[in-house]
Amino acid sequence: MRKYILFNDNWQFAAQKLNLDASDDLFESITLPHPNKIFPHHNVDNEEYQFISTYRKKFFWRKQPESEASAKIYTSDDSSLVFLDFDGVMLACTVYLNGRFLSEHVGGYAPFSVEITNTLQEGENILTLHVDSRERKDVPPYGHLVDYLTFGGIYRDVHLRLVNPIHIENTFIQTLDVVENPRLVCDVRLNHFKRGLSLEAIVIDAMGSEIASIQRQVEHQTARLEFEALPDAALWSIERPTLYSLKVSLIYNNKPLDTLSSRFGFRQAEFCPDGGFYLNGERINLLGLNRHQTYPYIGAAAPARLQRQDADILKYELACNIVRTSHYLQSPHFLDRCDEIGLLVFEEITGWQHVGDEKWQAICLAELETMIERDRNRPSIVLWGVRVNESGDNDDFYGRTNTLAHQLDPTRQTGGVRDFLGSSFLEDVYTHNDFSNGVRIPTEQPHLITEFAGHMLPTKIWDHEERLIEQALLHAKIHNLQLGDEKIAGAIGWCAFDYATHIEFGSGDRICYHGVMDIFRLPKWAAYLYQSQQSPSKKIVLHAATHWTMGDRNGGGNNPLTVFSNCEEIEIIIGKISVGKFQPAFDIYPHLDHPPFIIGGLDAYSAWGQSEFYDLHLISYLQGKPVSEQWISSNRLPKRLELFTDSGQLQADGADMTRLVFRITDKFGNPLPYATKVVTFELEGDADLIGENPFPLIGGQAALYIKAHHQPGTVIIRAHVPGLPSTSAALEIISASDFEGQRQER
Ligand code: GAL
Repeated sequence: MRKYILFNDNWQFAAQKLNLDASDDLFESITLPHPNKIFPHHNVDNEEYQFISTYRKKFFWRKQPESEASAKIYTSDDSSLVFLDFDGVMLACTVYLNGRFLSEHVGGYAPFSVEITNTLQEGENILTLHVDSRERKDVPPYGHLVDYLTFGGIYRDVHLRLVNPIHIENTFIQTLDVVENPRLVCDVRLNHFKRGLSLEAIVIDAMGSEIASIQRQVEHQTARLEFEALPDAALWSIERPTLYSLKVSLIYNNKPLDTLSSRFGFRQAEFCPDGGFYLNGERINLLGLNRHQTYPYIGAAAPARLQRQDADILKYELACNIVRTSHYLQSPHFLDRCDEIGLLVFEEITGWQHVGDEKWQAICLAELETMIERDRNRPSIVLWGVRVNESGDNDDFYGRTNTLAHQLDPTRQTGGVRDFLGSSFLEDVYTHNDFSNGVRIPTEQPHLITEFAGHMLPTKIWDHEERLIEQALLHAKIHNLQLGDEKIAGAIGWCAFDYATHIEFGSGDRICYHGVMDIFRLPKWAAYLYQSQQSPSKKIVLHAATHWTMGDRNGGGNNPLTVFSNCEEIEIIIGKISVGKFQPAFDIYPHLDHPPFIIGGLDAYSAWGQSEFYDLHLISYLQGKPVSEQWISSNRLPKRLELFTDSGQLQADGADMTRLVFRITDKFGNPLPYATKVVTFELEGDADLIGENPFPLIGGQAALYIKAHHQPGTVIIRAHVPGLPSTSAALEIISASDFEGQRQER
């Protein structure tokens, strides 16, 4: 039977190309996912990840019954085929086992598999990869300039896969007519056909109960399983993303040879000629952000927890209903979480403004095929991006990408992101990057805005407040325009998080400060604009966009005061005086669900050179009742050093990580963006602190990461800043097997 074994542990790494028999002394021990280089959080020099490295793993193998398997020795029975499944290696690699060359893979974003059945030997085996992380012009996205970094290493998971010689290669689950009469069709492809095979498929709900099953003989290498109507199937939606599993078994002589389970959801997603996007027959205005997979320090090598957290941030902290995986295939962990929480995804092929020669295009087409075959069972994915982001027209190439996408998945529409009007429209949806700081309507329909803002307004978390407000209000303006125009399906802003980039872009320190959050995923004020667009029944949002100073703005004062909130009214109290109650600016942003509050008339309370200056107190109201409040101190002196981790537990697998946020705040806990202080950390316990220590803080807040070792135990981190009380945070590292148990219980 099929078995997956996580193969992330006990690797060796050398930052150079070594012979296959190189001595162990030349390597360091590592766990995957692994970046070939750790960087500072800015000033990343892309030259530093561009080299060929050697990854090596020595492991023991025996052919014996599974029952005798141990943690140290991998086993298989006589008949299993054995594959290595790589989720992503940047940018190209060659794979060797026991001194024999097995294969080469180019392209850093797509998964690939290598069969090792006949090269495995009893006893010790040595797996070696030469990983080429140079920005090779022959491999997408390279060949011209690229506004993001690719980094290097075996930066995603590796699994060992054992399967029967006759097995299921893949399944394609399609849900049809879900609103009226839900049906399910599954296309199954086998690696090999022989007479006498049959398939059994079972639909299992989230509680583990079987809700339908089907059996049939197999006549060819591909087979279609069609379920009768499933009237009780719950739909997958943004609000209730109900997931099912389809367990498909391949049977011969009454014995299962292979079983493959995939999650799916009953849902119907369509961009329609009227300009709207419809999910399960209901029009939904798409409001989202682009995501790069870049993290500080570790580049793209983020483990599952951090990948999943990004989806949570987009959905719960930024209230997005869609994300675009700009500009490549992203981690399966990120997409798993999108499926689980109901975050729609526009997934696109690799590249940036440039299309290379035939060989380059062939890599791109192969990645497109892998992307669709990897992800077409995911309910979250509603559109395939089949054009290299912002490339020129190329009817031949894009004719081929489109046809391929439609062949592999007739149920989803395609888009092709361009940044100009009037281009050849070969896809189903006109996906368009609009940097006009307004909204340009193409003649082609349906139409989705796939980028805006971005480099038009780079904004740092420590910028002065007018700039932070300007960025937030540009996002407000574009969403207001798109929501007010029925011909537009939605808009996806540039972008969620600041990211590291090449020298031709960014702010000189190789960072594009285009995010509504910084690279640590900490909010700029634009993040609160997004957050405040959700219903207060989900979360009440109240955030004043002010440093509350007499003189940070041109001319001083705080007039007008901008506040992001999803409440109906806000009361402003300065010192002990209530200035009044105010309503959202529906006159300026009539189409936003929750426009910002833009409150004038505050000159009397906070003006340049005025002698009295008091704390700001905001109270927000729903149906006349106070529901939340915020205080901001007029005394902007640092009062506290705050420190917290996102997770209280990590698993002792040598790779799990959580963010450690630190900030210097006023007495009410508001970060002080101009508190430029050096923060020093000490860690006690079995874990690593990833990041700069000491950290020269600007912007009032930043983050490091804590990475587990293989030992369970308590980890304590202490942080110190001159002139403020030291503070500490703690977390537990628990054994990977206990962790697995907990996960199942949940
Ligand atoms: C777009 C591009 C993005 C990013 C953005 C910055 O042209 O598609 O990748 O560079 O500009 O605003």
